[in-house]
Amino acid sequence: MKILVTGGAGFIGSHIVDAYIDAGHDVVIIDDLSTGRIQNVNRGAEFICANIQDAEVEEVFQRHSFDVVNHQAAQMDVRRSVEDPIFDARNNVIGFINILQNAVKYGVKKVIFSSSGGAIYGEQDYFPADEEHKLQPYSPYGITKLVGEKYLFFYALNYGIKYTALRYANVYGPRQNPFGEAGVVAIFTKMILENHQPVINGSGEQTRDFVYVKDVVKGSLLSLQQKESNIFNIGTSRETTVNTLYDSLRKAANSQIEAKHGPAKDGEQFRSVISYKKAEKELGWKPSYTLEKGLEETIDYFKKYELQ
Ligand SMILES: NC(=O)c1ccc[n+]([C@@H]2O[C@H](COP(=O)([O-])OP(=O)(O)OC[C@H]3O[C@@H](n4cnc5c(N)ncnc54)[C@H](O)[C@@H]3O)[C@@H](O)[C@H]2O)c1
Repeated sequence: MKILVTGGAGFIGSHIVDAYIDAGHDVVIIDDLSTGRIQNVNRGAEFICANIQDAEVEEVFQRHSFDVVNHQAAQMDVRRSVEDPIFDARNNVIGFINILQNAVKYGVKKVIFSSSGGAIYGEQDYFPADEEHKLQPYSPYGITKLVGEKYLFFYALNYGIKYTALRYANVYGPRQNPFGEAGVVAIFTKMILENHQPVINGSGEQTRDFVYVKDVVKGSLLSLQQKESNIFNIGTSRETTVNTLYDSLRKAANSQIEAKHGPAKDGEQFRSVISYKKAEKELGWKPSYTLEKGLEETIDYFKKYELQ
């Protein structure tokens, strides 16, 4: 298949590109390198440095006849979305509509969308949340992911494009950016390995569902086979406190360094964990990495590639 991966120089997008190329697909990437890195880009893909909001994106659709668009490009920092919701919406809503308009115009059959199981449900009523849980995002970022799903519904209804929306839990693994505000595993890993003291926001008793990037990528591979439009949670159903995550990382890295605690951040819910039962039944997806194994691989990667 001929596939456009937006955000293909980023953390998750670059792993998806690798997997698609390994599976024999023809891949084009659009990425503006705002948080992505050129060294993540697979040499087997055609790389176009562009912003998804720009008119020049049309030329890419015109030149290639894409079967599928896998949309990963986004502003993905919850806190930045709280501070600058206009920037967030321009990237995550207007940018996505630009991609969808071109998808319709140039006959794309299917769109795979990276939604968020961590941000879309808000403070949960029950644990783990399934896809039927009420949608009450606590941040502008979560709102844009919900809006993205609604636009997909509109485009499917009116233009017959099929879609798969994958609501990722907290994804971690090699190539995650350790410099931003998002991506707690990457930030803690780099600090622990460099012997700096990390800051845990709030009590550290907030929980997250940490899913390894290689498991997440399988969701994008399996979605290519889906004939009907659908929405799936991609998480582990395992709830881990940030304090426990920190201890597991320290243990895996053989470090004694204690974290300190800072104030809790706006826009983030306290507990988050999602059920993958629907994905298991209808997509054939389930996680295969334990947190311990995923953290081990992540630490190995950071030791090799991220330390000065
Ligand atoms: N990391 C997570 O835990 C997580 C959880 C849920 C959903 N997601 C979603 O998964 C997707 C990938 O996230 P990630 O963690 O790999 O983040 P990332 O920042 O590494 O990747 C995003 C990529 O998109 C590019 N990009 C951003 N804005 C762009 C624009 N306007 N035009 C072109 N390119 C642009 C960036 O340069 C980057 O390469 C995002 O849509 C994010 O919202 C991530």
